[in-house]
Amino acid sequence: MRYGYFDNDKCEYVIERVDTPMSWTNYIGTEGLVGVLNQTAGGYLFYKRAEHHRITRFRGNAVPTDRPGHYVYLRDDETGDYWSISWQPTAKPVECYKARHGLSYSVFSCEYSGIYAEQTLFIPRGADVELWDVKIENRSGRPRKISVFSYAELSWHQINGDNKNFQSTLYCAGASYKDGVIEQELHYEENSFQFFTADFDPDGFEIERERFTGIWRSENNPEAVEKGVLNGRAAWQGGNQCTALHKRFALDSGQQTRLCFMLGQGGREAGLAIRKQFACTLARDEALAALAAFWREKQSHLQINTPNANMNTMLNIWTLYQSEINVMFSRFASFIEVGGRTGLGYRDTSQDAMCVIPSNPQKCHERLIQLLKALVSEGYGLHLFEPEWFEEKPVSTFKSPTIVPTPERTSFVHGIEDACSDDALWLVSSITEYIRETGDATFAEMILPYADAEAAPDSVYEHCKKILRFSQRMVGSHGICQGLKADWNDCLNLGGGESAMVSYLFLWALDNFIKLAEFLGKSEDAAHFKKVHEDTAKVCRETLWDGKWYLRGFTKNGRPIGTDADKEGKVHLESNTWAVIAGGDGPEKGKKAMDSVEEYLGTPYGLMLNAPAYTVIDDDVGFVTRVYPGLKENGAIFSHPNPWAWVAESLLGRGDRAMNLYDRLCPAAWNDQCDLRKAEPYSTCQFITGKDHPAFGEARHPFMTGSGGWSYFAATQYILGIRPEFDSLTVDPCIPPEWEGFSAVRRFRGAEYKITVKNPKNVSKGVREVLVNGEKCDRIPIMKVGESCNVEVILG
Ligand code: GLC
Repeated sequence: MRYGYFDNDKCEYVIERVDTPMSWTNYIGTEGLVGVLNQTAGGYLFYKRAEHHRITRFRGNAVPTDRPGHYVYLRDDETGDYWSISWQPTAKPVECYKARHGLSYSVFSCEYSGIYAEQTLFIPRGADVELWDVKIENRSGRPRKISVFSYAELSWHQINGDNKNFQSTLYCAGASYKDGVIEQELHYEENSFQFFTADFDPDGFEIERERFTGIWRSENNPEAVEKGVLNGRAAWQGGNQCTALHKRFALDSGQQTRLCFMLGQGGREAGLAIRKQFACTLARDEALAALAAFWREKQSHLQINTPNANMNTMLNIWTLYQSEINVMFSRFASFIEVGGRTGLGYRDTSQDAMCVIPSNPQKCHERLIQLLKALVSEGYGLHLFEPEWFEEKPVSTFKSPTIVPTPERTSFVHGIEDACSDDALWLVSSITEYIRETGDATFAEMILPYADAEAAPDSVYEHCKKILRFSQRMVGSHGICQGLKADWNDCLNLGGGESAMVSYLFLWALDNFIKLAEFLGKSEDAAHFKKVHEDTAKVCRETLWDGKWYLRGFTKNGRPIGTDADKEGKVHLESNTWAVIAGGDGPEKGKKAMDSVEEYLGTPYGLMLNAPAYTVIDDDVGFVTRVYPGLKENGAIFSHPNPWAWVAESLLGRGDRAMNLYDRLCPAAWNDQCDLRKAEPYSTCQFITGKDHPAFGEARHPFMTGSGGWSYFAATQYILGIRPEFDSLTVDPCIPPEWEGFSAVRRFRGAEYKITVKNPKNVSKGVREVLVNGEKCDRIPIMKVGESCNVEVILG
């Protein structure tokens, strides 16, 4: 069953049935102000940091899952009947409603009781305000009297304070109304305000939550809306604040009206300025158009046209969007992670920042620098950190009246006992990728400090060497990299045991670094690390092959994990895919390993992380054995490593398999089976419940997952094969043999490459000829900025 469809021309997903099987999220905002909202306008707004600067409240893990939200109620002033434009919270008959999620905006619409209404939520570029642009049209064929009410619940900035111990929350914030603007003051902070206003002079306002809803009611049936009157006190200190404004309209038959609410960062003065700026409908239309242009520019770095329509939709629009959102806002703002954590996860950010460099080099650059500053000089990354810790002027954190000692800077820098073995390795490849894409070799020379302040600052290049040396040093008794607190798999906690995946990841990082060293003319380093690579590859070859697949590692007692003899956790996805990506063990074993992956881990929805799932607790293996079978790391179809399998199959030249795996995980491919999938079909989810769980096939945790970035990276660079190199562009696809080809437009270092791939012999892989502007070439040269060229790639 389907709930909606993709409107690719508008880059929107149109939800025709808003009672979706789960909340379907969108993200609005592209800079400081961010909204996490679903198809019923439920969700929350924050400024820069979801944990420390929450603007609207969200009741985490509540029933229903999306309360409260940014709501507009309409009321028939002749009958007293009222409804909300976004279906919830009043929940009138669902057939009256639709929603559209676009790129950084959402539109909710309804036609109820002869009144059509639309509410568009978006945050203009360059302004810290969320606009609620509302259009109303009387389609009833008779004159009507209609009231409009806004409602959102304001939050304390600190999510911790907002969710526990209300002693402060209830007494250290207040609100007032004056000149058409509601101002919330967070009295416990310096100069800290939010505003809410509208482009009209209201007939009434309310700033106190319970006076709006009624003490024994909720946003479902607010007393004030039922009565049709807002009678607020001009100022009130303490309690829970809300933003309700009321306007009455008389609408003739066929008449339309348009109005706008504005919720933003700053006090009354800021509110008045914003009100002036966006009172005019043209300004709002232009702001929405500017947002579309912002996304069009990002999309213009790569547009593809392949025989796979779902792939086109996902890569041209939604996967790019999801990957960008992860880089922009990190991982902790969703309906699942409701902002209770903040900052950057080392491994997640390193990977996210590798995947959208073409469309967002500035943000990726900023992230890489933040990560480099959070590298401990021993060569491991701080697993979870706040970039502000390492800025010149640390952002002052909230001073609670409950005495909490101020932490020393050194306390941020955790020891090796909390280090993960993979964290910083990802960064080496992200840095090399950044230089490949931008051509900016000077980045390698940039001098940056380490997290441990006593260590002397060093170049980016030297930071990379420290990371590589850490992995080289931190090996276990077999010579394989130690697992430490965890490797990529948070729940595989091997400590001094060994992780095959990390040794393979080390090989990949080494390979990328060696190419960088060669490009920079550092031949001694290149030779040195080639030797390290050879030695590591040899140990892997001699230690990790189990006969039909690769081991996952060893426990600290030397017991192998992931062998044919194991009853549980026999085959693991991470080590097998990375063994192939790292290379060095020949295609025969690689094919055999990937065949085993398919045999043991294959499902219609993608590949499970391991199988059979663990049922017996084994702390030598880790927390994974305490996760229920089929969920998350214990045998779910964990999305993030699935693209690694597409890369592996592409490297092995099996294009039909790579594409088949792509299709199985592809969210859009499940659009017509959303009763099964449950989650939104426009976003890759963190995982899909595995075979060993009764809810097999249900997708969970949308948007905030590394599978967004990796899906983009793997599909564009390996299946379609369009890859940046230090001194050229490569097009080396691995596609299903039945494809006759595909085309793409890629912008690379300021020039445009119009690529046509032809597959006359119906092969999967192997470039026979490359023509640039009709001339045969060995490789595709870097064109001058502003130039455009035609690239023809003939396979076979
Ligand atoms: C989550 C974490 C990520 C980890 C993965 C597997 O997605 O954010 O860091 O690699 O789970 O455990």
